[in-house]
Amino acid sequence: HGSSKINERGHLEIGGVDTTDLVKEFGTPLYVYDVSLIRERARGFKQTFDQLGIKAQVAYASKAFSTIAMIQLAEEEGLSLDVVSGGELYTAIAAEFPVERIHFHGNNKSREELEMALNYQIGCIVVDNFYELELLDTICAERNQSVSILLRVTPGIEAHTHDYILTGQEDSKFGFDLQNGQAAEALQKAMNSEYLDLLGVHCHIGSQIFETTGFLLAARKIFSKLHEWKETYSFESKVLNLGGGFGIRYTSEDEPIPASQYVKEIIEEVKKQASAFSMSMPEIWIEPGRSLVGDAGTTLYKIGSKKDVPNVRKYIAVDGGMSDNIRPALYEAKYEAILANKPLQPIEETVSIAGKCCESGDMLIWDLPLQKTDSDDILAVFCTGAYGYSMANNYNRIPRPPVVFVENGKAVLVVRRETFEDIVKQDLPFVQRVKS
Ligand code: LLP
Repeated sequence: HGSSKINERGHLEIGGVDTTDLVKEFGTPLYVYDVSLIRERARGFKQTFDQLGIKAQVAYASKAFSTIAMIQLAEEEGLSLDVVSGGELYTAIAAEFPVERIHFHGNNKSREELEMALNYQIGCIVVDNFYELELLDTICAERNQSVSILLRVTPGIEAHTHDYILTGQEDSKFGFDLQNGQAAEALQKAMNSEYLDLLGVHCHIGSQIFETTGFLLAARKIFSKLHEWKETYSFESKVLNLGGGFGIRYTSEDEPIPASQYVKEIIEEVKKQASAFSMSMPEIWIEPGRSLVGDAGTTLYKIGSKKDVPNVRKYIAVDGGMSDNIRPALYEAKYEAILANKPLQPIEETVSIAGKCCESGDMLIWDLPLQKTDSDDILAVFCTGAYGYSMANNYNRIPRPPVVFVENGKAVLVVRRETFEDIVKQDLPFVQRVKS
């Protein structure tokens, strides 16, 4: 996985740093990010567009993993940024990310969030619904301020891994329906507004997608509408944003295609459609989250208790679980793992890795072939970089683990471990205890 390897001490090493040293310094559980791998992924997307001479923006979908350090890294790599809440926008601003490259998403942005976006004069707002369209127009009028927008449309395609579903009228909480006239109505409203500068359209068809079919279908459906809108309203889309969703390999069962291939096929299709309808080539924007950070993240845990259910299963518990990685419990997501302190020892048994939360569903990995474990061994779970830390929680009042960035043999702490004091920080007493 990534730049991880087994070093001369016989330990798992990530970004040139021995994982047992990381555990000594930072404790467990610990999120470790391989910075050079994130850079490599970012460059992979960007270079493909550049080589093919296509005007593009690659916006990092920060919901996958948003911290100040990560946003700084995205900035260094020349990415744009997709934020979906005031909190993600605040993080971007705190990281001093260039505001003109921030895109604001979300199906229920509040007045406060829209005002915040306007205060910072961010690059564009991806308008999701009629309520937002009117609210934004009103706020802009109050402030006499213009803003660039995209319209999020639902093309009637939903894709997940190998499955994509074609739905006439998509049943989704997001976006303007492309088929039933809502998108056209939104377009007219946006075009009639004095304050909204409509750059183009956006769609996002799903996540963890292994094939290009869904993206190409979406591009086709959108183009046939864009053609109609050009004829009817003389509207020309400067930007076509096809969202994120590029799949990654969590286990050997997953077979994603390389990022560059998604990009190449998307570009080809957009070129084809543009020329078929004799329209000018729009800028192509994409929004990868998982595919930029997913396989760069590894979580290190300490092995603790064991339970043997004879002839059924061996449970091995670690010192984290659904509080730092809710994906197995929520989506039955699968992961691979090894013992980081003795990866070369022979695989001896099949065990199931349990978390420490008080919930039967808190299982990180079922039926994992593993070396013989002793307590205090270190379990490294791979590919936890996307939607791990970002969906972490304090269930059972478990403090969230710290985040360490490793690169070229150096480790930098970029998020501190939460403490028990942090856990009760927002609590206020109900009963006032008067000391006598
Ligand atoms: N753009 C939009 C509008 C999105 O809604 C999303 C993800 C992305 C981009 C980035 O998608 P990605 O490239 O990361 O697949 N919590 C789930 C994933 C939810 C994705 C939501 N939207 C998980 O852990 O699998």
